[in-house]
Amino acid sequence: MKVAILPSNEKIGEVAADFVETLLSEKSNAILGLATGSSPLPLYKELIARHKAGRLSFANCRAFTLDEYVGLDPEHPERYANFIRREFTDQVDFPEGAVNTPNDKAENLNEGAAAYDASIREAGGVDFQILGIGSDGHIAFNEPGESLTSRTHVGFLTDQTREDNARFFDGDITKVPTRAMTQGLGTIMEARQIVLIAQGKGKARAVRELVEGGVSSRWPATILQMHQNVFVLIDEDAASELELKEHYREDWAKYVEFN
Ligand code: GLP
Repeated sequence: MKVAILPSNEKIGEVAADFVETLLSEKSNAILGLATGSSPLPLYKELIARHKAGRLSFANCRAFTLDEYVGLDPEHPERYANFIRREFTDQVDFPEGAVNTPNDKAENLNEGAAAYDASIREAGGVDFQILGIGSDGHIAFNEPGESLTSRTHVGFLTDQTREDNARFFDGDITKVPTRAMTQGLGTIMEARQIVLIAQGKGKARAVRELVEGGVSSRWPATILQMHQNVFVLIDEDAASELELKEHYREDWAKYVEFN
């Protein structure tokens, strides 16, 4: 796990976009794993800018999003399928039908979840997975207590997560769905490269557990310590509770120098 403590959202977006640019220069038909939420927005902004500048094309790519609320109207702006189109994929050149999202409208949700999991494998697996992290340590919607090897499934959201996400639902927690279809931790761990982005003091505890805590379903993101190719891009506030901050700074400086 490489930890980069970066000075601004712009820099986080640039560093993450550099990874994508390198990947696409080697594999123009890469499979991207897309996260919703506010954390990856600086990355999407940078990718859109580089696309508009003619530096990046997604014309041969496919994408899979991480998760979807269960029960929102198809047109609801906070439906993750709508969010990702609005904030990223409609602003670049993914071909029609290339962006896949979990089907929360499946007649049988368990079968729908299993089919989504299988479709990722059939596509060849995710080359580059973007992640945020919840203040309770969730990734996608894998909440505390989730099996560390889970596959795509329907799970319940914690009150903490619903409270955190109420800001997208007029500040009203009762409008936040209670369930979501989410890629499992085992599914996410199959991605070949993972970049997790976190900003702000509200994420500091979860980031400390992610980087320096023991691997445990109490903090689901800690499973990423078992992955060989993970980058954690954070701002100073999100890094504020890390014990070995200076070590990560030196290590990242060396990584930048040699890459
Ligand atoms: C949401 C999403 C996650 C996201 C996280 C953090 O509930 N399911 O994929 O990473 O919570 O959200 P944000 O980036 O808005 O802080």
